[in-house]
Amino acid sequence: MTEAAVRQAFADQAVICTAAGAPFTGRVCRLIGERLTAEGEVGRRVLGWTGVASHQGDALPLRLMGGLHALARSGRDKALSAIYPPATAPDDEAVWSMVGRVLVEQAAFLSPWLDGPPQTNEVGRSAALMAGLLVLADRFGLPFALYELGASAGLNTVLDRYSYRLGEIEAGMVGSPVRLTPTWTGVSPPRGDVEIARRAGVDRNPLDVRDPATRARLAAYVWADQRERLARLEAALDLAAADPPPIDQADAADWLEANLSTAPETGVCRVVMHTIAYQYFSPEGQARIRARLAATGARATEDAPLAWLSFEAMSDTVDRRPTLDLTVWPGGETQRLAICQPHGAEIDWKI
Ligand SMILES: C[S@@+](CC[C@H](N)C(=O)[O-])C[C@H]1O[C@@H](n2cnc3c(N)ncnc32)[C@H](O)[C@@H]1O
Repeated sequence: MTEAAVRQAFADQAVICTAAGAPFTGRVCRLIGERLTAEGEVGRRVLGWTGVASHQGDALPLRLMGGLHALARSGRDKALSAIYPPATAPDDEAVWSMVGRVLVEQAAFLSPWLDGPPQTNEVGRSAALMAGLLVLADRFGLPFALYELGASAGLNTVLDRYSYRLGEIEAGMVGSPVRLTPTWTGVSPPRGDVEIARRAGVDRNPLDVRDPATRARLAAYVWADQRERLARLEAALDLAAADPPPIDQADAADWLEANLSTAPETGVCRVVMHTIAYQYFSPEGQARIRARLAATGARATEDAPLAWLSFEAMSDTVDRRPTLDLTVWPGGETQRLAICQPHGAEIDWKI
């Protein structure tokens, strides 16, 4: 990869962050793209990146933004913390003098953040999943068994612990400290009771909600400007820590084959669900997941249904907006329930 392509990846990420309501993060990205030099380990590694730096590849700008935000939150460089939100940022020259300095001086802290992909757990996506469960509750009237693939820390595996306003209806746990009120377009989802009989999740790198390092890591990857998202993440982590979601460490396809029996299970609606995770599974893993769903679905009945609830960025929507798609067995029909903002902040309900 050329240095110019790396700089372009930061410029492109800057535009994305700014458009998504994170102007400070966008500005830091832009300044790095324009002004980073090869002085110091971080500059050398970034400008000499051998993989694909862009969002579609290694998401290098987001790795570095995560490291800088973690550094600002840690308080180990007070001057950097002082320019990060919620503080009002100074002008470009002052921001760059600070960021350019820490990129060199704090290489030992920042360099490890370049080693691996960003890992998030976006609670806002629970709003879309909950709307999908309401559709299933309306159709079958059964308690649910949830199987979440690529669950991260499991904050969406415990979606029934949050409270929701979805269109004109209220759902979830009344009085929950985590409240989700996405901007809603279209008719409201059906009113109903969502009872979770059991839940399980898998991630190849599950994060323990009781580990302070998990909090630091997940918060670092939320853009520093997005104070509401950060507050919501912290509230969800507090809630989850009281009763941690059961997330196994495994590959999603291996785990589903081991945990989703093809035998029908009467009296529960089994739901395999995932949010912004499927694209990271190998093509072979995706095929095995679809095969297990089809095999289990083939034996499903009205009393023992199976559902596949997917919140994923599909290539057939404008700007690759995530869609909420639901396949239900018996029958195996797929319905597009909604098109959504990537963090679940807007839901355009389609049925
Ligand atoms: C972008 S994150 C999304 C996390 C969470 N679903 C959310 O929406 O906040 C993708 C997750 O998929 C996990 N993952 C990627 N490949 C996997 C695999 N083959 N098996 C299990 N988990 C995987 C990653 O570790 C990461 O936690």
